[in-house]
Amino acid sequence: MAKERGRPATSTVLWDGVRRLLADAAGGEGAAAPGAPLSVVDLGGGTGGLAVRVAALGHDVVVVDPSPDALAALERRTAEAGLAGRVRPVQGDATELADLLPAGSVDVLLCHGVLEVVDDPSAALRAARATLRPGGLLSLLVAQWPATVLARVLAGQLAQALQALSGPEHRWSGTDPLHRRFDRASATELAEAAGFTVTAVEGTRTFGELVPPSRAEAEQDVALLRELEARAARSPELLALSAHLHLHARR
Ligand SMILES: C[S@@+](CC[C@H](N)C(=O)[O-])C[C@H]1O[C@@H](n2cnc3c(N)ncnc32)[C@H](O)[C@@H]1O
Repeated sequence: MAKERGRPATSTVLWDGVRRLLADAAGGEGAAAPGAPLSVVDLGGGTGGLAVRVAALGHDVVVVDPSPDALAALERRTAEAGLAGRVRPVQGDATELADLLPAGSVDVLLCHGVLEVVDDPSAALRAARATLRPGGLLSLLVAQWPATVLARVLAGQLAQALQALSGPEHRWSGTDPLHRRFDRASATELAEAAGFTVTAVEGTRTFGELVPPSRAEAEQDVALLRELEARAARSPELLALSAHLHLHARR
């Protein structure tokens, strides 16, 4: 998962969203027989944390990633989980999708934490769309800039907060590992310009960066944080504070 840092409260929100999206794809227009495995691609799937969870539901997952190290870790992870037959690692990047996968063949494409680091996010989304069957679904997770501004202010990094707020790509400095951050409008616009219809936007990790670490460990606090995150995920008022936005979109 995209830097969920093992905090159960927030990874639960994202995973719930992914499971709903998979269920929609299984039951929606153009779907194969009920209960049949979905064809899923995890673009930039890295070491496969999400791919393995999706495969464990019975789906067939292709992980496309340019990093050989990440794919080696993925292979170890899938072997340990006994899911090697359900997860196929493919070395390549977003610009090569057309050469790697038949057009219109995929039920669900996961693109989590990737548009922030690719050279051309519009081209990546257009390539992703071309792999999907008509009616196929995109699960798009992007980092959101207002949360970064808030986190930098709370950390006392005011110059970085100002840079993240005012810079065109919302990076906090030239050494920021992300090339860009999004917000609801920019992420929705990007997806729609690539030909997707956005059907839902949910926030993940709304409070994960804000809660003091000492309050995120006790069992009772974890339960409260999970409840807070679940409610915040669909609150239009709190959406702007979420560290990540999870967009559900249809080809
Ligand atoms: C922040 S990680 C996210 C990993 C995973 N999707 C997740 O949610 O935890 C970004 C991933 O994108 C991959 N990546 C970088 N450039 C890419 C590109 N041009 N096309 C596809 N994946 C790319 C990286 O190798 C890395 O695995």
